[in-house]
Amino acid sequence: MSRTYNIAVLPGDGTGPEVVAEGIKVLQTAADTAGFKIKLTTFDFGGERYLKTGETLPDGAADELKKFDAIFLGAIGHPDVKPGILEKEILLALRFELDQYINFRPVKLYPGIECPIKDKGPGDIDFLVIRENTEGVYAGSGGFLKKGTPDEIAVQDSINTRKGVERCIRFAFDACTKRNSKAPWKGLTDDEKAAGKIGKLTLCGKTNVLTFAFDLWERAFREVATEYPNIVADYAHVDAITMWFVKNPEWFDVIVTDNMFGDIITDLGAMIQGGMGIAAGGNLNPEGVSMFEPIGGSAPKYKGLNKINPLAAICAAGIMLEYLGEEESGKKIESAVMKVTADHLKSLAAGRMGMTTTEVGDLVAKYVKES
Ligand code: IPM
Ligand code: MN
Repeated sequence: MSRTYNIAVLPGDGTGPEVVAEGIKVLQTAADTAGFKIKLTTFDFGGERYLKTGETLPDGAADELKKFDAIFLGAIGHPDVKPGILEKEILLALRFELDQYINFRPVKLYPGIECPIKDKGPGDIDFLVIRENTEGVYAGSGGFLKKGTPDEIAVQDSINTRKGVERCIRFAFDACTKRNSKAPWKGLTDDEKAAGKIGKLTLCGKTNVLTFAFDLWERAFREVATEYPNIVADYAHVDAITMWFVKNPEWFDVIVTDNMFGDIITDLGAMIQGGMGIAAGGNLNPEGVSMFEPIGGSAPKYKGLNKINPLAAICAAGIMLEYLGEEESGKKIESAVMKVTADHLKSLAAGRMGMTTTEVGDLVAKYVKES
């Protein structure tokens, strides 16, 4: 019997449906080429539905989504809906309700893409950020006192549970081991290589100021590190990391961090890998259902123009296949994307690609088929 994957598709708002269509085109081609099947079920969650019905995530939606092998998301965000509502009640709600405790964000500069950092090329920018995805300041703990008065107080707590932090750190060590099992990280020193190290995991924190939260993180990190003797366990403050992403991005292999710092450094990561047109990631629950998405927003001004870059959605589809165990097909999609960026695309920016959205999807699909 051939393998079949049940995928829930959430195209969402703006250009979401257009980029998702190209992602599916490439997924389908990969499936046909490799001989597995994908079964798609589309859900209309997003701004349009909210404006019509007042509903963001309907009751039971998360339970319904738990029945799928994976979720493929386009973009959430609508110009007529106040910022915060859809993000919180759809995207963050799904991350929380499905306990997608890992945000998996590869940052890789593909050939042919212009890098904003002088003298850095594809060999220099190739790392993975593992962001904790259900705790920290995103947990929603806190509140107001005397709201609206001159004595107002707003408190927003950062929640860091030993369990939540440890499972994230453990995932990051495993991801670092897997990523380097075939091709050890090239940034290792000779001494580290001689000591049998294969990769490096950097904890990104702020132990000099956040002496409670990152004390817990650092202790968990050091303890778990003893179980991974062939990984260099490294630490850097978040502010220094933003500096080094620009100055020495080649220093990084895998980075693990909390939700808020991860949110910030992955946007910087997106910029050094060429921009939102290429950045993709996954919200993972290794024990449950995971959700894969392009990072860029819904870009409403490009909606329906066939101008938006679909590569981030296509890359998200590739990451999804790898995660589902179709590693070869995932790699084929990445190689096909790299051929398109190297030889065809003029720019990653919407309207300046030198190709339409559908043409980019067709070309990636063609390369997948030929590979
Ligand atoms: C992201 C986004 C979300 C976040 C927003 C839309 C709530 O910026 O996926 O990084 O802050 O996590
Ligand atoms: Mn973000």
